[in-house]
Amino acid sequence: MSEHRGIFSSRMGFILTAAGSAVGLGNIWRFPYLAGENGGAAFLFIYLICVFTLCVPVMIGEIAIGRRAGTDAYGSYKKLGGGKWGYLGLFGIAVGIFILSYYNVVAGWAFGYFLEISFGNLLNHQNFGAFFGEYVTNSGTILLFSLGFMVMTAVIVGQGIAAGIEAANKIMMPALYVILIALIIYSLTLPNAMEGLKFYLVPDVGKINTQTIFDGLRQAFFSLSLGMGTLMTYGSYMRKDQNIISSAATISIADTSVAFLAGLMIFPLVFSEGVEPTQGPPLVFIVLPQIFHSMGPILGRFIGGSFFLLLCFAALTSTISLLEVPVAYLVDQKKFSRKRVSWGVALLIFAIGLLSMLSMGQVDFLTKLSFYQDRDFLTFVSDMCDISLTVGGTMMCLFIRYRWKIHNMDEEVALGANGYLQSATRKYLDVTISWICPILLGIMSILIILDKFIGLKVLFGWG
Ligand code: TRP
Repeated sequence: MSEHRGIFSSRMGFILTAAGSAVGLGNIWRFPYLAGENGGAAFLFIYLICVFTLCVPVMIGEIAIGRRAGTDAYGSYKKLGGGKWGYLGLFGIAVGIFILSYYNVVAGWAFGYFLEISFGNLLNHQNFGAFFGEYVTNSGTILLFSLGFMVMTAVIVGQGIAAGIEAANKIMMPALYVILIALIIYSLTLPNAMEGLKFYLVPDVGKINTQTIFDGLRQAFFSLSLGMGTLMTYGSYMRKDQNIISSAATISIADTSVAFLAGLMIFPLVFSEGVEPTQGPPLVFIVLPQIFHSMGPILGRFIGGSFFLLLCFAALTSTISLLEVPVAYLVDQKKFSRKRVSWGVALLIFAIGLLSMLSMGQVDFLTKLSFYQDRDFLTFVSDMCDISLTVGGTMMCLFIRYRWKIHNMDEEVALGANGYLQSATRKYLDVTISWICPILLGIMSILIILDKFIGLKVLFGWG
């Protein structure tokens, strides 16, 4: 690995940065609303199965490819696979660009909420549902905040795998845990909290349907930042003597525990406030202000402000990882200057994001896409990206199995993992990457695509 590309300064540096990529709006904003829409505990159950059976092996494979090749997503596939495999890397890079385009808009909402709660009068409102609906159509404000977010992302990525990201993560991640746990304790003391816990923790197998399974899988991929080359790119900066398996396990546990805790915080609140858990994307933006409001003007401002600030930091470590993927490609392959490329790509992505930003009611055509069941553009992009992630994961498994070959992956994983080659872990990984993951992910990806565009009900009479 050439020195000028940079390398994580410590073992913890890689783990924290990759966990920082994983932990983000996906855990605190998306996981609770998907769980709310999909029967709570039934969703949690499927999600956990997906993470530990399908996603951890894919994560190990992705990191191994990146570390072996020591370059960006496109370069990695091309170097190890030759021929047309580079296109798979390019596909991932494109997906990352689209994810960041709408992710940054939601980050702008979170940033706005931080300011409005800390310094504005958001908590004085009566109806937080109505407030949210109006807030996100406030184009000027959201434009400014999203732009601010993108600028921060570009500044950090422009500096490279800097000690800054590692250092920031070291403080921010523990702080996020502390505030989550404090809020969980508070929410458990509220009336009706136990109803919420029951909804979230006691699975009703009857509630599991194809939707629960699809949503659980796509959320697991999204939350762990899998399937498009983020971890491949980060893996290329990883030391050869670092254990990929234990790193992947730590990242997955860190990510899953934040999502789990977010649910534990939200559902008692949802039930004690008498809000429907099936609100969709606005869920945390409606329920959380309600609770901060109930804490009184001073404490509410402080706790609410801190919460949204930490959410912004969590989102920032994710936007950084998303921007890093196209930037690493342009720096490694086209030899552009990192700083310039970071700004250029960030602005381009911001411009694409305007389509999502304006799909909250401002522009009719974008708010109700006629070719997509009258849903908004933000939902459309996010659905398309999710599908691409599971397709990307499937293709990656096929790449390892048929092109790069399992024994090469094993060789790479064995560096830094003593005894791996003789272990049961190796057998498990070999079987999952060659059979279980590609088959299940492949079938599910096809079903999800059919479901989105035609409807499984129409096709098979179920769904
Ligand atoms: N995992 C992040 C979250 O949960 C989002 C994210 C960052 C991501 N990088 C990614 C999602 C790569 C998919 C692919 O908020």
